[in-house]
Amino acid sequence: MKILIIGGGNMGLTYGRSFVRAHITSRLDLRLLARSPERVPALALHDIGTVWGTPGECVPGADIIILAVKPQDSAALFASLGGLVQPSQLVISIMAGVRIDTIRQALGTPKIIRAMPNLPSQIGMGMTAFTSTDEVTRAELVQVQNLLSTTGKTVYVDDESAIDASTAISGSGPAYVYYCMGALMDAAAQMGFAPAEAELLVSQTFRGAVELYSQSGLSCAEWIAKVASKGGTTEAALKAFGAGAVREGLMAGAGAARDRAEELGK
Ligand SMILES: NC(=O)c1ccc[n+]([C@@H]2O[C@H](COP(=O)([O-])OP(=O)(O)OC[C@H]3O[C@@H](n4cnc5c(N)ncnc54)[C@H](OP(=O)(O)O)[C@@H]3O)[C@@H](O)[C@H]2O)c1
Repeated sequence: MKILIIGGGNMGLTYGRSFVRAHITSRLDLRLLARSPERVPALALHDIGTVWGTPGECVPGADIIILAVKPQDSAALFASLGGLVQPSQLVISIMAGVRIDTIRQALGTPKIIRAMPNLPSQIGMGMTAFTSTDEVTRAELVQVQNLLSTTGKTVYVDDESAIDASTAISGSGPAYVYYCMGALMDAAAQMGFAPAEAELLVSQTFRGAVELYSQSGLSCAEWIAKVASKGGTTEAALKAFGAGAVREGLMAGAGAARDRAEELGK
């Protein structure tokens, strides 16, 4: 399978490395397109595949083309690809907020996947939601799922609006986790722990709690009930969270992220 990755930044390189590591494709069949010929040597240093500086020769012959440039660079990219992408080629876009219709009109090609990965994809612990146009066959969807799964877990959604929602939950989600971790680290520091101790207490607590959750069939509420005994310390914390509307704040934050994702796509 010949794969072309356009954009050799964080995500483009993550996919390149993950595909090769998972033996989905070989370095010989992997192509990367840099922004310009001058940027080829720097990208070639990563030794992931053949690096090109212009689209003319690397786009033809690719079975799958992955668009991994920033959304603000999409218009220039589409202009440079004008007429090169063929209807048989599968296009996977991970560009946040760039709608399938926009890609279809710009490239004039029907087989399009829109995917929303997140940051932990870089260590194979990512979460990716993806959707597709009707022209993508079942076999091609399986192929795409295999590709995306090299960076973590995947979920297929029928409706493109769920991509905006997943942007708000799993796409931005790592930042919400770091926000909560940061607040608890600050609380630990206020209580007298050294920064390294605060970091250890908080990070290991998050790691352990998530792992325990993953290994059980219990809900978050059931796990909370196991930790919080009547009249105890956890209950005191939960009461204070309630008074400060922490849960509502997090839910409102996710809603604001979804609204912004929809707005950016217009
Ligand atoms: N990072 C994440 O966690 C994450 C999560 C979900 C979705 N995404 C999406 O993934 C996309 C890439 O994000 P990123 O974090 O990988 O960005 P990034 O690190 O800035 O990488 C983007 C790369 O695209 C290159 N580029 C720009 N225009 C190009 C063109 N016309 N042809 C070839 N290459 C071009 C840039 O080259 P130069 O270095 O030469 O400028 C840069 O190397 C974005 O659309 C983002 O919305 C990212």
